[in-house]
Amino acid sequence: VIVVDAQTSSRSYRITVGHGLLTSLDGLWEGVIAPRRVVVCCDATVAALYLDPVRESLAAAGLDVIALVIPPGEGEKSPQRLALIYDRLYDESITRTDAVVSLGGGVVGDLAGYAAATYLRGVRFVQVPTTLLAMVDASVGGKVAVDFRSGKNHIGTFYQPWLVVADLDTLRTLPDAEMRSGGAEVVKYALLGGGALLERVERYAGSGVLPDEEIVATCVREKVTVVARDEREESGARALLNLGHTVGHAIEAATGFEGYSHGQAVGLGLRAMLWLSERCTGLDRAAAARGQRLLTSMGLPERLEDVSTDDVVGLISRDKKAVGGGVKYVLLRELGVPAPRETVAPGLEREVVEWLAHR
Ligand SMILES: NC(=O)c1ccc[n+]([C@@H]2O[C@H](COP(=O)([O-])OP(=O)(O)OC[C@H]3O[C@@H](n4cnc5c(N)ncnc54)[C@H](O)[C@@H]3O)[C@@H](O)[C@H]2O)c1
Ligand SMILES: [Zn+2]
Repeated sequence: VIVVDAQTSSRSYRITVGHGLLTSLDGLWEGVIAPRRVVVCCDATVAALYLDPVRESLAAAGLDVIALVIPPGEGEKSPQRLALIYDRLYDESITRTDAVVSLGGGVVGDLAGYAAATYLRGVRFVQVPTTLLAMVDASVGGKVAVDFRSGKNHIGTFYQPWLVVADLDTLRTLPDAEMRSGGAEVVKYALLGGGALLERVERYAGSGVLPDEEIVATCVREKVTVVARDEREESGARALLNLGHTVGHAIEAATGFEGYSHGQAVGLGLRAMLWLSERCTGLDRAAAARGQRLLTSMGLPERLEDVSTDDVVGLISRDKKAVGGGVKYVLLRELGVPAPRETVAPGLEREVVEWLAHR
């Protein structure tokens, strides 16, 4: 078991990464929260796999457990589903010292987290991520949200959990495509961090084994360090976590959030970032090629396909992080040495997208 401490101005909390943790949640939150009632929110897929053991162990500890099961899918991260969750919390007379536990991927984490943040101005909240993406990214850092109309995460806030418990055993049932999607974020941290993490991730990628405690905990540590410096995305430090995401988001949007998963789009965004870094921030060719190889061995797409490159180029400039003076990119000077606020000549934005489509 590896424990990572997260410190933010609003709350400090422990992120526990290990095996066999699902059935000892009450032990892990002892001294942190003391709920009487626990609302376990998960989607139907995760419920079928993991709800019973969680429910039984919490009930055995004398807690009153309420299961709140929703259908799977990003479509549930909606104001409509949120209202149904509020209804349930109200009907069950949940109080602020009771707990909402999100058991599942980033969809449930963001949704249940936003409900917990806003219901009664904040109910105790515990993240129990069961996807690689949620373990290394979504469950840590306090961003919670629902989608609104065409805006992803358009309604949301910052609400740090009281505790995060990542049980690596749950990854055994995670479909390959979801593993690769989380793998893209793992590559992101490896490129940002460089050094030993990069080497460890290179050994892991393509090995067919599940990520170990050290990989997950190191990624979590990277995120926690950045979030501690900039909890609410104000100073710009948190923007580092957008490595590969400017082009990635444009690709997701250009395909109506259907052609590529977030992870696949970010994988392509990271390829674009390496290409741009070679031209704009002096990343050497061998380092860029090493990054490209890692993306390939992680099973991420090689090429942008079935998407209009014009649409992608147009959407890049509409990135929500764009401020006066154009889109600011996170690029790399070296592997492990980010350059956080780079502008790129407009011609290069088109060139890199064309390169992605024809490489
Ligand atoms: N808050 C943040 O900082 C942050 C960061 C990154 C992403 N996100 C959000 O996270 C969401 C994506 O999260 P995700 O990729 O985890 O998707 P997800 O929550 O939809 O989970 C993916 C699929 O895997 C299934 N699943 C989950 N755990 C499983 C397991 N252990 N075994 C088998 N199946 C399992 C789910 O039922 C679902 O169908 C997006 O909405 C994104 O906006 C948030
Ligand atoms: Zn991402």
